[in-house]
Amino acid sequence: MFVLGLEAPEIASSVRAGQFVNLGWAGGPLLRRPFSVYRADGDHIEVVLKAVGAGTAQLLGMELGDRVSCLGPLGRGFELAGRSAVLVSGGLGVAPMPLVVRDARTSGMEVTWVHGARTAAELCAEAEGDTLIWATDDGSQGFHGTAVAAAPDGDVVVACGPNRMLAAVAERWPHAQVAVETYMGCGTGVCLGCAVPLRRGGYDRACKEGPVYHAADIDWSALPSHLAYAVGA
Ligand SMILES: Cc1cc2nc3c(=O)[nH]c(=O)nc-3n(C[C@H](O)[C@H](O)[C@H](O)COP(=O)(O)OP(=O)(O)OC[C@H]3O[C@@H](n4cnc5c(N)ncnc54)[C@H](O)[C@@H]3O)c2cc1C
Ligand code: FES
Repeated sequence: MFVLGLEAPEIASSVRAGQFVNLGWAGGPLLRRPFSVYRADGDHIEVVLKAVGAGTAQLLGMELGDRVSCLGPLGRGFELAGRSAVLVSGGLGVAPMPLVVRDARTSGMEVTWVHGARTAAELCAEAEGDTLIWATDDGSQGFHGTAVAAAPDGDVVVACGPNRMLAAVAERWPHAQVAVETYMGCGTGVCLGCAVPLRRGGYDRACKEGPVYHAADIDWSALPSHLAYAVGA
């Protein structure tokens, strides 16, 4: 995983946890690529990514000073209120969590972050919070099992990671807030390329009404579980 820093003062000063930016650049793919905002400080934001295709490979090949068109902050973020927040992430699902920690602390919440990966080598090293719990599928570090199984209960549960992990979150905490994976086109509510199937029937646009949803609102059986955001989880 790599962290890419961008000078984006307006976004840095207004972004909320769970919101994303849509990146485009000269010579890049026709459609912009969406990334959660990982950190925001001063005039800068950061995104965390790894190369899964042509677009992400080009981003990782950029030089200091290269220019990227950065649309955002987009989408609806997490609502953080209560005494305690439990953060559950898998693989690249770490992406929105540092801002969740920031916003939860600003609201005076106690933060427990549970991060899971397949092996110790794939755990990110930058997790933070009052209590930190690692979980690995092979037991090579921390809890032997999934992040969902390792997590305690909390007033607010937020989760990000592979859709199959979020489906497990929905079973345990129907009122959890989850940031879902979809394909995206415009990122601004126009193209309908980011449809999320709902349990009550019909679809929402992840870029406008999401990407953060109450877990119980999503029809998990109809949402693809194989997207690249999940790679490494
Ligand atoms: C709201 C949101 C936030 C995201 N935040 C992050 C993040 O913080 N870090 C990160 O690394 N990735 C994030 N993603 C996923 C990221 O947008 C895709 O990995 C990226 O668009 C792939 O572009 P590419 O050109 O490299 O790959 P492509 O060549 O387009 O595709 C390569 C592979 O990625 C899959 N893929 C393409 N687009 C998406 C997509 N939008 N979501 C999931 N899988 C996709 C394809 O099925 C294919 O298997 C996020 C996606 C969304 C919708
Ligand atoms: S990405 Fe175009 S409507 Fe959501």
